Amino acid sequence: MRKFVFGVLAGLALAIVVAAVMGMGALMFVEQGYVDPRADISPPAFEKKRAMEALDAALDRYAPKRKDPIQPTASSLSQGAKLYGKYCAKCHAAMDSSETAWRVRLYPPAPQFPKAPTDMEEFENFYVIKHGVRWTGMPAWSGELNDEEIWTLVTYLNQMKKPGPLMPGMDPGRNQSTPGAAAKGGTK
Ligand code: HEC
Repeated sequence: MRKFVFGVLAGLALAIVVAAVMGMGALMFVEQGYVDPRADISPPAFEKKRAMEALDAALDRYAPKRKDPIQPTASSLSQGAKLYGKYCAKCHAAMDSSETAWRVRLYPPAPQFPKAPTDMEEFENFYVIKHGVRWTGMPAWSGELNDEEIWTLVTYLNQMKKPGPLMPGMDPGRNQSTPGAAAKGGTK
């Protein structure tokens, strides 16, 4: 019995030492400048995966599960298009080709919604738009847009998945090979 307890304690102590050494190693890696600071490279696959998992898990924990109160009508979608054009299209690309996304690169890149619509739930999009995403270029819009405007944007973004006839500014060629702003944006 004594031997067993000793074995367990020794195992625990070893695990703690190994964890501490690994933690210090990671800290030194960061502090010694081994993390590549460039924004014009693509995030490595493991980083992208970990970051997405971390964001998904955090949204599960923090974002209140609410229903989008704004119906997709001609008027709400045109309001959404206006807000999107004013505040979002520079980074996320516009539905029509009249506005091009910035050709600078963000790290992580801003998703180009007309080409690759968001697959997140409405309440998650609401939370991300309102509060932004730390350590990325996604700003928090809570000081600029009220809740109704944010839901209007959520409704508009949702329509990008399957744009119906009410969708304003649709580029009819957007599913073909290129000419939209999205394609010119260049980032994924
Ligand atoms: C300065 C650039 C910038 C602006 C302006 C901007 N965004 Fe973003 N946005 C980003 C970046 C970068 C990400 C990616 C964050 C990440 O990888 O977690 C992002 C992510 C998002 C996401 C999460 C998408 C997903 O599927 O993961 C949503 C939704 C979003 N933005 C909506 C908006 C809306 C709506 C606006 C306008 C009110 C806006 N953004 C304005 C840079 C921007």
